[in-house]
Amino acid sequence: MTGELSPIDKAKFVAAKRAAEMVEDGMRVGLGTGSTAAWLVRCLGEMVRSEGLRIKGVPTSTRTAELAREVGIDIISLDEAKWLDLTIDGADEFDGDLNLIKGGGGALLQEKIVATASDRMVVIADKAKEVETLGAFPLPVEVIPFGWQTTQALVEETLVAMNVMGRKTTLRMNGDAAFVTDEGNHILDLHLNRIGNARQLALVMNQIPGVVENGLFIDICDTVVVGYGDGKVEV
Ligand code: 5RP
Repeated sequence: MTGELSPIDKAKFVAAKRAAEMVEDGMRVGLGTGSTAAWLVRCLGEMVRSEGLRIKGVPTSTRTAELAREVGIDIISLDEAKWLDLTIDGADEFDGDLNLIKGGGGALLQEKIVATASDRMVVIADKAKEVETLGAFPLPVEVIPFGWQTTQALVEETLVAMNVMGRKTTLRMNGDAAFVTDEGNHILDLHLNRIGNARQLALVMNQIPGVVENGLFIDICDTVVVGYGDGKVEV
């Protein structure tokens, strides 16, 4: 499954493999999105095939759903599952309080809904994702396409009013067109450099008309499994 991996892929793989060991027979598991979460899905698929692990997976994107099907994981919708035992997902940044920036892959909305509907959220990440203060990674904010430029202006005004350091926002693109999420929305990336009060920013962003959700995950993650390029893992 792995062949010769680069140090970064090795770090993602070992974190995913360790987290996969936390999955028990019969569990309903939220399956994250991104390159690290893809390793997790492959590891779980291997456990389904070789160890007879029986799980129900709730994918957080069409990409993850496709991969899960491909590797033989039974998938169900969140409404069928109702509540999940565990969600395992990647992150773009995590801090010492286990608060996160997510959404680099554009799946933050389903990811937040699924993680919030879980007894536990475990994040899998390479060591480079650990930060003292969130914000070097641009904060993704999902907005509805209708009037997105007006929403963008409101977001920028709000950042000024909140005295946030960086105020530049960009519409995420996919080639020449605006990126479209699984929900048919767009993403604004907020280049903030440093987020002084992530909890407050997360609440305020979601008050702006046109904003659907933001990529700050506050008090949602319970555990981070950190992988290193030499194969070491820390939980
Ligand atoms: C997708 C996400 C991903 O978990 C995040 O972008 C990390 O991705 P990767 O594991 O590829 O570094 O939030 O919306």
